[in-house]
Formats: sequence, structure tokens, C-alpha cells
Amino acid sequence: MPDIPPHADNAIVWRDGRLYLLDQRLLPLKTGFIGLDTGEEVADAIRDMVVRGAPAIGVTAAYGVVLAARNAWQARGPGWRKALEPDLARLAAARPTAVNLFWALERMRGLMAELGAGDPTARLLTEAQAIHQEDIAANRRMGELGAALIEGPTSVITHCNAGALATGGYGTALGVIRSAFAAGKIDRVYADETRPWLQGSRLTAWELGQDDIPATLLIDGAAASLMARGGIGWIIVGSDRIAANGDVANKIGTYGLALCARHHGVKVMVAAPTSTIDMTRATGADIPIEERDPAEVLCCGGNRMGAPGAGAWNPVFDLTPAGLVDAIVTEKGVILQPDAKKLANLMTG
Ligand code: MRU
Repeated sequence: MPDIPPHADNAIVWRDGRLYLLDQRLLPLKTGFIGLDTGEEVADAIRDMVVRGAPAIGVTAAYGVVLAARNAWQARGPGWRKALEPDLARLAAARPTAVNLFWALERMRGLMAELGAGDPTARLLTEAQAIHQEDIAANRRMGELGAALIEGPTSVITHCNAGALATGGYGTALGVIRSAFAAGKIDRVYADETRPWLQGSRLTAWELGQDDIPATLLIDGAAASLMARGGIGWIIVGSDRIAANGDVANKIGTYGLALCARHHGVKVMVAAPTSTIDMTRATGADIPIEERDPAEVLCCGGNRMGAPGAGAWNPVFDLTPAGLVDAIVTEKGVILQPDAKKLANLMTG
């Protein structure tokens, strides 16, 4: 295993012809990378939550195409294109809601269509690395734009993990928080623990600690009471997919936060690159919502907590109507009070 510093900004690393992923299932108690060599391994890693977060899934899938294409070329030579299809299908089936996955696969397919019958590996790797670097640059830009909206100093609440770990680096929601903290506009971040995978307590708090940003964990149900006490200026979250009318799919619990925020006069910011905006889905109702194994809810830390015989419903995302969102921050600009017309202008502008 190469010596990669275990920082949130190094969670996806291409080195010496292998893809290394910081295994997010182990954090924060252990830091370890796994090395991947095939498209199938990459699809499994996405499905099993080694890597998660919509933009990170997209970046990882792009590298997965590189590995799949290299193996297809080595096995079939000029017939690589056809040999690659099963791995592309596996990658596309890994998770259904994060549209960045499909966006990245489409972009890699676009390049594949331009390539001849020769070894495609180098060209596809350049494209995957471009997707990765563009995502980091988009996050830095969103950080500036989102921070500019915040009148500080104030405290904020974030949900799940929309940080460097969930992206190519720097983060979407946590990118805004990092930039706003550096500008003295945020004094404390309250992180929802985010049942059942605990992305907030395991990942967000770990990332904020790496940046010395004061963080306080909350059980998800405490956020409403915290808003009622005052002192919270913004809810800042990421997204897995934004529909053409501005409805936002994000980690289960985001909708409840947005409803509470409206009641208490707290503003809601969604930070997401334009690769998360899906103009083919008119409204949130058209976005597929992933449901995972009930065991994730019934168990905690590997131990069964649900009563014997109890079942569980485990939708892992919810839909926040555009009307509850104050700002969508993208690398192309900010949309206040989003609606279909404003999104169309942003995407075509
Ligand atoms: O199930 P996860 O951990 O992949 O869910 C991630 C989220 O909901 C994030 O908020 C979203 O992907 C945005 S990440 C920048």
C-alpha cells in the first residue's frame, strides 16, 4: 500500500495504475486505503459505501471506467468497447439516486465514442483526472460563492457528510463552511449524526477536526430544538440530485430540517455542482430514491437493536421542495429562491 496521508482531501487517489480509496466505513477509528484494479471492484466499493457522496461517486466511477477499459483492452484488444459494457452496467447499477454517477459515466462514454480501436487507457485516464480536478475547482468556487451569502458570525447546521470525503476534494456544503470559517463568518458547526450510517458523527466531525473548525454533534432529532433556541443562521447541505424545478434530493432528514428551518426563520443553502442538476427530471417526484437494507436501521455497530420481529423502512434520501430552499450554490453561480426558470437559465447560460 503506498504511503498516502489519510486526509479527507486525499480520499480518492490514482497512483501507479491503481485506484486507492480511503475506506469511509472504517472512519474515524481507523484510517485505511483499499486498492482497486477492476471496474467490478469499483462498482462494489460504491455500492458498499467504501466511497459515498454524490460527486465522489461520480469521480470514482470515472476511474472505474479507466480500470474496466484497461482490462477490456488487455483481454480483447480492439474489441475492448464491447468487452467493457458489463462493467459499465455494474457501475451504473451501484447506487440509483446520486446523478453524478450517471453524469460521469455519460462523460466517459462520450470520450469512448471518439476513440479508435487502439488502447483507450491513457485517454480515459486523462478524462477521469479532469473530472476529478474540475470537481475540486467547482467546490472551491462554491465555497467562495456560498460564504459570500453568510452574514456572520453565526452557527450553522449540516447534515450527513458533504465534505471532501463526499467529493473529489474540499467539499460542497463543507467547502462553503471551510471558506466561511476562514472568513470569520462561522463560529460553530452543528453536525447531525445522520442515522443509520452516521456520516455526520463519523465523517463530518472528523473532517471538521482536521481543519480545526469547532464542531458539535447532534442526534438528528435535536436539530429542531437547537433552531428554536436561536443562533443558527443557516442549514448548509449538499445534494445527490436536483430536479429541473429546484427540488432537492439529499440524505434522509434534510426535508425535516428544511421544514423546521422555515418555521424558525433559518435559511437553507444547498451547495452542489452543476453535475448534480438533472434537467431530465422535471420535479423531485421523478427522482429515484434509494432504499437500502433494513438491517442498516435495525442494527447499530453490528449489533441488533430493533426488537425481534420488527421490520424497518430505510429510504436513504428524501426530497426537499424548492420552495423550502433559499439558495442553491453551484460553480456557475447562485440561485436564490430556485425555480424552473432560474435553473434553466443557469444551465444554459
Ligand atoms: O448515502 P450517502 O452517504 O452517499 O449520502 C450522501 C449525501 O446525502 C450527501 O449529502 C450528498 O451526496 C452530497 S455530497 C457532496
